[in-house]
Amino acid sequence: MELFPQEASSFAGHVDALYGFLIAITAFFSILIGTLVVVFAIRYRRRSPEQVAVDVHESMPLEIAWTVIPIGLTLVMFFWGASVYFRIARPPANTMDIYVTGKQWMWKLQHTDGHREMNELHVPIGQPVRLLMASEDVIHSFYVPAFRFKRDVVPGRLSMAWFEATKPGKYHLFCAEYCGTRHSGMIGWIYAMPPADYQAWLSGGVAGETLAAAGAKRFQEQACNTCHGDQPGARGPSLVGLFGKKVHLQTGQEITADESYIRESIVNPQARLVAGYPPIMPTFQGLISEDGLLQLIAYIKSLSPPPSSGATAGGASTERNPAKP
Ligand code: CUA
Repeated sequence: MELFPQEASSFAGHVDALYGFLIAITAFFSILIGTLVVVFAIRYRRRSPEQVAVDVHESMPLEIAWTVIPIGLTLVMFFWGASVYFRIARPPANTMDIYVTGKQWMWKLQHTDGHREMNELHVPIGQPVRLLMASEDVIHSFYVPAFRFKRDVVPGRLSMAWFEATKPGKYHLFCAEYCGTRHSGMIGWIYAMPPADYQAWLSGGVAGETLAAAGAKRFQEQACNTCHGDQPGARGPSLVGLFGKKVHLQTGQEITADESYIRESIVNPQARLVAGYPPIMPTFQGLISEDGLLQLIAYIKSLSPPPSSGATAGGASTERNPAKP
């Protein structure tokens, strides 16, 4: 039996090195202190009933040593841990996006080109993959031990995680948050494939409508286009070229229009109003499923040019922005 799962992502080695360090430090001090307790208990035991304890005064070098050494060790843990955390928390620019919805009790995973998978995800190795995740009901948690990442998927917001698979293989996907009676069955597989095999897989399956195209349809259905049209004097701001841009808010703040902002602006439009527009947009909370929100996000993203920096080979850049309006 393996003690640890395989290391199959770009940050698995870093996580394991830190974890190994923590285990080594813990083992060293546990053994040291445990041994000293036993040795001292024997060596300094009371040898006769009349024996009186001697007064011991502190030793300055000893006090300094056992203050400075643990501080140094914990600071190493802190900075090392922070650097690994930042590596995991910050996706690179050239990611391939996968849209994930969790619901009792399954994972639905969608590629931007229209491929949909249930409890399975095919990805190329050597390509950073970003997961945009939403829950239709309760808290789930997307957990791939071999990739050393786990991210809670909380209702009412988008969760993001990324990984880059480094070794071809089939890896367990778990839900790691108790989410009801069939939580333990909410499992699946990640298939990491060489890029050529991945392309073959993509061309083999039947791709449905692209996410952006599905989103465009919803955009019409919900009549978003009546206010967010492109014509001058429209009641709402145009969404063309919005994604990734700085937005000036009524409060004077400036924020970047990312996926979370778009989602919030649909379900809670008054939360961060764009400067110069009246608060007339109704909420779409409860009217559009999380799945539909992801489609709308994909559609609005497709209205902006993909980021020019960091475009990669291997078809990633086309997947990033698949809509052909
Ligand atoms: Cu979903 Cu546990």
